[in-house]
Amino acid sequence: METLYREGKARAIGVSNFQPAHLDRLLQTAEVVPAVNQIELHPWLQQEELRTLHRDLGITTEAWSPLGRGQVLQDPVVLDLAAAHGRTAAQVILRWHVQLGNVAIPKASSHDRIGENLDVFGFSLDDAAMQALAGLERGFRTGSHPDSVN
Ligand SMILES: NC(=O)c1ccc[n+]([C@@H]2O[C@H](COP(=O)([O-])OP(=O)(O)OC[C@H]3O[C@@H](n4cnc5c(N)ncnc54)[C@H](OP(=O)(O)O)[C@@H]3O)[C@@H](O)[C@H]2O)c1
Repeated sequence: METLYREGKARAIGVSNFQPAHLDRLLQTAEVVPAVNQIELHPWLQQEELRTLHRDLGITTEAWSPLGRGQVLQDPVVLDLAAAHGRTAAQVILRWHVQLGNVAIPKASSHDRIGENLDVFGFSLDDAAMQALAGLERGFRTGSHPDSVN
């Protein structure tokens, strides 16, 4: 990948599901720091350790299953914030990602929902709302743990 990058055939190199130990091992030999690490990340799995490490290393955090495969849309705290802001639950979660500096890649099957999910730049969450969402961490994974996946 580094050869392709130097030849200009790849504009950036990214990794996915790398834990801190994987990044450590990679950076012992890599000459190019990955541009991005795509990891499971949503209000029920906030990945603080990795987000801090990414910040220190200059790696962009990309959130897969940013809505927790739709399950976090039912969280009462999210629903309350959505009602208070006149927005949908999906918009509140995606706005939280934006304010944390995450790249979020939600999947939706209808044109309307894709439009709704993009429309998150006309409002903001204040400190109290961000704190309320920070309190939702529960170590909930929809996918396999990268350290134990077969
Ligand atoms: N790197 C990896 O290991 C990895 C692993 C898993 C997933 N991913 C990637 O992550 C991306 C998204 O993840 P995901 O599909 O697992 O989870 P997600 O984006 O968190 O959630 C998708 C679910 O949320 C629903 N949804 C989306 N927008 C909505 C809205 N505005 N209102 C109500 N419901 C809404 C969708 O329903 P509908 O479809 O019915 O609209 C779907 O059921 C995909 O591109 C996938 O490829 C990467």
